[in-house]
Order: sequence, then C-alpha cells, then structure tokens
Amino acid sequence: MAFKTRKPYLEAMVDLAPFQSPRPDEYAPMPKPLKRRDLKGLNIPDGPRSPLLTLRFQKDTPAFLINAKAEYGDCSSFFLAGQLFITAFSPEMVNEVTVSKQGSFIKGVGFDRMRKVLGSGLLTNEEPIHLRHRRLMQSPFHISKISTYAQTMLNLTRKHISNWSDGQVVAIGPEMMSLTFDIVADILFGTDISADTKRVQDSMHIAIDRIERTMLPGLDRLDNLPIPYFRKFEKAANELHDVATRIVNERIASGVKRDDLMGVLLEAQTVDGEKLSAREISDETLTLILSGHETTANVMTWALAYLGDRDDLWQQVALEADQYLPMDKAPDIRAVLGAPITKAIFAEALRLAPPVWVSPRRAIEDVEVDGIRIPKGAHVIISQYASHRNETYFPDPNEFKPERWHNDLDNTLPRGAYFPFLAGTRKCLGDQFALLEAHLILLEMARTKRLKPIASQLPRPEPRATFRPKGGVASVVIAS
Ligand code: HEM
Repeated sequence: MAFKTRKPYLEAMVDLAPFQSPRPDEYAPMPKPLKRRDLKGLNIPDGPRSPLLTLRFQKDTPAFLINAKAEYGDCSSFFLAGQLFITAFSPEMVNEVTVSKQGSFIKGVGFDRMRKVLGSGLLTNEEPIHLRHRRLMQSPFHISKISTYAQTMLNLTRKHISNWSDGQVVAIGPEMMSLTFDIVADILFGTDISADTKRVQDSMHIAIDRIERTMLPGLDRLDNLPIPYFRKFEKAANELHDVATRIVNERIASGVKRDDLMGVLLEAQTVDGEKLSAREISDETLTLILSGHETTANVMTWALAYLGDRDDLWQQVALEADQYLPMDKAPDIRAVLGAPITKAIFAEALRLAPPVWVSPRRAIEDVEVDGIRIPKGAHVIISQYASHRNETYFPDPNEFKPERWHNDLDNTLPRGAYFPFLAGTRKCLGDQFALLEAHLILLEMARTKRLKPIASQLPRPEPRATFRPKGGVASVVIAS
C-alpha cells in the first residue's frame, strides 16, 4: 500500500517495527523533565520527600498515592528519578487535566514503552494523528453498531461456560482473559487469527507485563540492554507486530470484504477520502486487542471476587438474566445494559478496582489547574484508584457496596469524581463494548454456572499497565 506524503511519520517507520520506531515528529515535542534545580523561584505543592521515596513508590504505587493523598490532600508533589511529579486527585483537577485543559497535556510516563508494542494506535498516538484516527474509528464503536456484536459475545460466553463442570476448580483470571480475548479477536478478525491465537496471547501477556512494570521515568533506556527480561519484551512486541501485519496484508491481498471490525477499518474513510494505511490498521488492531480484552477480563475477575459469597446479589442477577436477557430471544442491548443490579455491581467494581488505575500525563506548557500552577515539563498523575476513594462522594470508600449506585449516584457526582473510562477526547473508545460484554457474561453466568472464589479474602492487587488481581483467583464452579 502506498503511503501518502502527508503522513511523513509513516515513511520514517515503514521498515521499522514499533519497538525501534522513533517518536513521530508530528507530535508536540516532549518537554524537558523538570529537575529540582529548574524549580528555583517556582511554587510547587508540598509532598513526600524521603531518600526511600522511590523504593516506597515502586513497592506499592497505589498505597503510595493513597498515603500522599491522606497526608497532603488532592494535590501534592514528589520527585522520581529526580523529576517532578504532581498529583491531581480532586474532581476539578481531573476534569481540567482530562477535559477543559487537555490541550496543555500529552500522555505521560509509560506510554512511550507502550508505543514500542502498539506502535501508533489510538491509545498511544498524540495529536494531530490521534484525532484523525479517532474520527475514523468512532463509528464501529457507536452503540448502534455494538448491538451487532452482542450475539457473538453471548455465543462465545455460552461456549466457554459449557466447558465448566459443577464442582470443578478453575482460576477466574485466566478464564476471563481467554474468554475476553476470544471475543475481541473474533469481532476484530473473524477466523483470520485462529491459527495464531496462542502466539498472540502469550506475546500479549509478556508485553503487558513489561510495558509498565513501573512508572519510573527513563526505563525505556534499559530496553536495549542484553538482559533476557528486556530481550523478551522486544521479542514479544515484534511477534505481535508480525502477526498483525501479516493478517492485515493477507486480508488486503485476498480482496475479500468482510464486515468484521478489521473490514470496517479497511473501508473507513474521512469526508475528504483519506483512509488508514495497512501499517496504521495493523497498529490499531493490536491496540484494540490489547485494550479490549485485558481490561474487561480484570473487571470481570474483580467483580466475581467481590461477589464472593454474596448469594443475595447472585440471586438478584439471576432474576435479571430472565428479565433482561431472556434465553429464547436475541440480546436487546439497551435492556442488557440497563439491568440495574448488574449495572451497580460493575459501577462499584470499576470504582474500587479500576482496570486503568492511573493515567499519567505530561504538561507541555505552563498551565493553571484548579488554581495550582503546573509548570511545563511536570509529570501529572491522575489516578482512578485514588480519586475513586474520595470519602466525600463515596462514604466507606474501601467497601464493596453496589447499592450506593441505586439512587442515580452517577448523575449527582461532579465531573471528574468517577472516571473509570476517563473523559475528553482520550475517553475509552470501547466503554459501551466493555460494559455490554461484562453484563452479558455476568448475566449468563448467573443463569447457568457461577464461579465462587475459594479464599475468603479478596485477592491482592498486582498493578501493572492494568490493575490485575494477583494469582488466578482459584474458584469453584457452582451450577445455578
Ligand atoms: C472495563 C474495561 C475498560 C476500561 C476500564 C477501559 C478504560 C480506558 C481508559 C481509562 C482509557 C484512557 C487511558 C488514558 O488515556 O490514560 C482507555 C482508552 C482506550 N480504550 Fe478502553 N477500557 C476498557 C475496555 C476497552 C475495550 C473493550 C476497548 C476496545 C474494544 C477499549 C479501547 C480503548 C481505546 C482504543 C482507547 C484509546 C482511546 C483514545 O485515546 O482515543 N477499551 N480505556
């Protein structure tokens, strides 16, 4: 496929796999990080300062952020690898950074490493490329189009559940990972990917594990070291790129038009006739596979862990299955998404265990956010995990209480108080896709077979690029 001259970043990377591709020139230049010596005369918020800070941050980042919030409030500062970080946890700050002043920020620490795996896809792209692609990719994720995926989601869920026998012990995490992978791969590629499923899953697992093991700046410099840990990261990234490129090129060469998501992306064009190139589609499909399965699998796993022995909730969801997802009818997505108890369970699981638990940003100009001056170059930490535990809006913030959502809570919260899918132009493209999938899986499970965790305590979190539960969460299958 010929590359148009108006996309010089593609010409620069056409022969390079994402792992070795440079940051596209079209993006705003990456500002210089702010070191302590640059801050003379600048008023920065107070915050933790300790020689052991990096260690504490690395050991348990969510706990570090919560402690900083408890001690210094919604906005504090600290230094990692000598660079200035500022937290923005109040609803006002979150709303300004993600929506009303989003033009002053680019994606922050961790996203450069993500680009090594996903190339220039929606998740990692910056402006002006991001918005161009977002417009092209919006329609397949519109609620009206998503309804056409519901039957596939349900069929694959039924197939998956039918493999579980009563009393069997399974691990929820891997079960949900494999189900959500099958769903997104089927909807994206149809059968084109069947032969490569295992390879893609294994490489994806390694890549996700290593993309953001840490938010420490400068880690990307280590990626070229001859150390097995980093070499495996590159190998996994290259493998994913090879498979996606081959599948896209084979589809183009075959001339076959199909209405799976890849077919839609191949046909999508702007009003002036611009289309995505093969390389762009390859990067976008990898982005959709990665962002479209691990997150939903995590929220499913956490929701099932929180449900634990709440038989009352399971029974209510089973009643909702009969009412909102009748066995003998095709799924009506508005009914499925409206099932109130199921909706409240996921709203609460997404509050307590948001799969995307932190959204790092970088200020590309001096900007004032809720009265606080953020200097150009500062890292800004938005954290769903920390903000969703604000007692003002969520009393007993660490308790799993789906009932808090019953009285229309989401419509009374200020903007920026609850944002599992973020907001603004970087809002999740797949929010309705994910919620539909999660609702269908839980409703179908409540009707047929449940998974009950064996341990009585909740799993420990293992935060990576997503908020994973540690271990597989061993559970027993119980026929409903
Ligand atoms: C419960 C499941 C999910 C959660 C909690 C979630 C959350 C998020 C969040 C918070 C972001 C913004 C990240 C940032 O900018 O820092 C995001 C972006 C994105 N998500 Fe999701 N996501 C989920 C499922 C999905 C699914 C199923 C898909 C696709 C099939 C998807 C596709 C995307 C894409 C393409 C972006 C980048 C959007 C852009 O920047 O224009 N996500 N997601």
